[in-house]
Amino acid sequence: MESHFTLKGSFKTSADASPAKDVIDAFFTEANETILTKGAPEGEGARIVEWDIAGDRINLTVESGKHVRAHDAMLRIRKPLAAIIGKEFKVGVRGIDVESYIIEIPSENPLGELKIPHVSNIVYDEGVITLTLDVGEAELEKRVPDRILTLMEDKIAAQSYGGKGEHWEILWESEKKEFTFSEDPTQEMVKQGWLKRGSSRGQWIHGAQSTRLFRTFERIVIDELLDPLGYNEMIFPKLVTWEVWEKSGHAKGVYPEIYYVCPPKTRDPKYWEEVSDYYKVTHEVPTAMIKDKIGDPIGGMCYAQCPPFWPFLQGETIPTDEFPIKVFDRSGTSHRYESGGIHGMERVDEFHRVEIVWTGTPEQVVAHSKELQERYLHIFNDILDLEWRKAWVTPWFMAQEGLDGISEQGEIGTIDYEAPLPYRGEGGEWLEFQNVSVNGNKYPSGFNVKCQSGEELWSGCSGVGLERWASAFLAQKGLDPENWPEEFRKRVGKMPKGIRFL
Ligand code: SER
Ligand code: ZN
Repeated sequence: MESHFTLKGSFKTSADASPAKDVIDAFFTEANETILTKGAPEGEGARIVEWDIAGDRINLTVESGKHVRAHDAMLRIRKPLAAIIGKEFKVGVRGIDVESYIIEIPSENPLGELKIPHVSNIVYDEGVITLTLDVGEAELEKRVPDRILTLMEDKIAAQSYGGKGEHWEILWESEKKEFTFSEDPTQEMVKQGWLKRGSSRGQWIHGAQSTRLFRTFERIVIDELLDPLGYNEMIFPKLVTWEVWEKSGHAKGVYPEIYYVCPPKTRDPKYWEEVSDYYKVTHEVPTAMIKDKIGDPIGGMCYAQCPPFWPFLQGETIPTDEFPIKVFDRSGTSHRYESGGIHGMERVDEFHRVEIVWTGTPEQVVAHSKELQERYLHIFNDILDLEWRKAWVTPWFMAQEGLDGISEQGEIGTIDYEAPLPYRGEGGEWLEFQNVSVNGNKYPSGFNVKCQSGEELWSGCSGVGLERWASAFLAQKGLDPENWPEEFRKRVGKMPKGIRFL
């Protein structure tokens, strides 16, 4: 079974259209074979199955499959109907009323409780989800029923993927390495005074040693990858607005993981005086009072790092020879509200990443992804000497929109780089320590960026997670520089001592 649409509604008319009955009848009969089938496979158009005239209304029932949908049918016939009854009978069409609109969607399972705008009822019975829509002319015109159907189809697809576990296909694997270290590196780092927990959830204060490690990783990425490949550094904003996330797709699903940002309702000190006074007297910050005095969230703190770059190119037409454009950002933290429980540095709410972004024609973008992969291979094999592998996974932007699944192993999609953590034992979960993605036309099209030649634009991005690199490297090599690979030791120099405590 396919999805089925049943719309009962009416055209409001300026007068009783009864004198035009025969003409309308002929028009509807013909429409069922012509305008309501256009674009649909043979026999799968919409149909006006019933109609009558009652006072200043033409009531009708339209049924359809998903090709020409019932609401489209109403919109398609409105104009020609108005032309016919207007000219000959001087009756105008004033608008559309929807009495009821039912969409039936096949689904193996019910979807549980849902609250969807413009849907007043959802029932599941024997393999069919029946939606009762609460829509009027404006919603039909804005194609709200189409969005509702897409939403439901995505939920149904996610449910069937959900049962199949993670999406993951191995692409490449290094040789096995002998590990001499088997501790959890975060615990060792804490013991040796390399870092301490920050006061916020999943946050760390990095001491001199840990910072030296991060900066060395960055230096390696710059010297071995970004400089040779012709990248320029930029500084991307770290407070991301809804407007950016609407265009990047994050507005579809990132809500459970955002750190939200709310501005004060005003910066008038008088308005805030009671808050400061409350604190001064009680020594407690009155968070409930603050909640009252701040505005709605304007967005959140940096999450995926590349989206807030795109407004720089937004709406521009760029000379063809500028491409491929290659930029990176390492100007600040990213924030994710992670799952609860105690984690080490490998799972943090606040993290540091070098975000690498490139854009150009599809060929340029795909070719460049290969160049990056070669550079990473060189870094992980020849400098960090890691055991690692590459896997084809759910594209990061789909995951961040709350979608599951994997793209065909073609050109668009995400490669995760993963490393075993010896302390997790043989068979323990490997750690994703970075990714390389070809994102197709999603960003250039979402932010309306054009190439002068008119060619399609694609883009890619790659996130180098410094906490993740450190977790993988230290888990495999330990904290003693004596045991680090020569190529890395050379670059790290003499490790700083850090602050001693009594
Ligand atoms: N933007 C990508 C991500 O969030 C790469 O850093 O995974
Ligand atoms: Zn990115």
